[in-house]
Amino acid sequence: MKEDTSETVLAKRTVNRIEEIAGTFPGYRRAHAKGELYEAVFTPTGQAAFLTTAPHLRDAEVQAIVRFSSSSPNPTTADALAAVKGMSVQFQLSNGAVTNLVGITLPIFVTKTPKTFFDILNTVRSFKDGKPHFKEMVKLFATYPESRAAFQMIRKLKHTKSYATGRYFAVHAFYLVNEEGSRTPVKFEWEPVAGVETLSIKEAATMPTDYLEAELSDRLQQEEVRFRLHIVIGNQQDPTDDPTKEWPKNRQRIEAGVLQVKRKAIAEHDHFIFDPTVLSPGIECSDDEILPFRKDAYAVSYERRKKGQ
Ligand code: HEM
Repeated sequence: MKEDTSETVLAKRTVNRIEEIAGTFPGYRRAHAKGELYEAVFTPTGQAAFLTTAPHLRDAEVQAIVRFSSSSPNPTTADALAAVKGMSVQFQLSNGAVTNLVGITLPIFVTKTPKTFFDILNTVRSFKDGKPHFKEMVKLFATYPESRAAFQMIRKLKHTKSYATGRYFAVHAFYLVNEEGSRTPVKFEWEPVAGVETLSIKEAATMPTDYLEAELSDRLQQEEVRFRLHIVIGNQQDPTDDPTKEWPKNRQRIEAGVLQVKRKAIAEHDHFIFDPTVLSPGIECSDDEILPFRKDAYAVSYERRKKGQ
């Protein structure tokens, strides 16, 4: 682990606070605790080659590991109680290096800074299953206006019918860097080839606790599970440092490739950390403060779960 700095101290305190609110589940991730790993293959279209030197976005197909997850820090939370779902992808490059792309079913995050995220965790008492109560929301909206858009989206978010029919957003801005060194601000999105399908509140209420994993196992026996990777190109005025803001819908988009999820991965130990700052040359982090903070928080969570804590 890194030496203690004010950032790593805040990351530890944040993970501690998540444990205080949600409980500690030995060996599990401190967020997105329930999830499964799958083997996959990513095939680039080549359309992004003018923007980046990253090999998986230009050349031949690469193997990938995907982890679909439910956002609750409690692995026993029913799938239909935590609305936000995750899709973490680790592309395995031919030189042995890896590059991560971590998405959720929301296009934005709740805070612009790590400190505000920590402050909100300290304020909110009813976060357990991912949806704060109405009264607390009203208080939160007044104190943290930047969080309003994300909380409203979370409240309205419908449960996905399948992990294979969710649209997943990498939320932060990144830069793609090409051979000339030209840097382009971008965001990444996964669009399900099967189409977006959600459940009504009534349907969600009747679903078994772990319906998503079972559904994906069945689906993989019957059909191909694929996602298109879209790269959204930012304009000069689009913020790169603020994950609480969406970019306008009319931005140019490139279809960079297709990911095919093949089968459940047989991993004896889940040693994966889907740190969103681990990137191939040709992709760089933006100036979004949440990104380096996630690196620290994920390392804290990993150290604990690795020791069976
Ligand atoms: C203040 C900001 C955030 C904090 C403190 C935080 C915290 C965490 C922690 C502690 C984990 C468990 C890591 C592990 O044990 O490997 C995790 C996992 C995860 N987080 Fe975050 N997170 C933050 C922001 C975000 C954002 C903006 C996204 C949107 C893409 C996101 C998506 C995920 C996903 C999908 C996982 C599961 C990763 C996996 O499959 O292993 N998080 N988060």
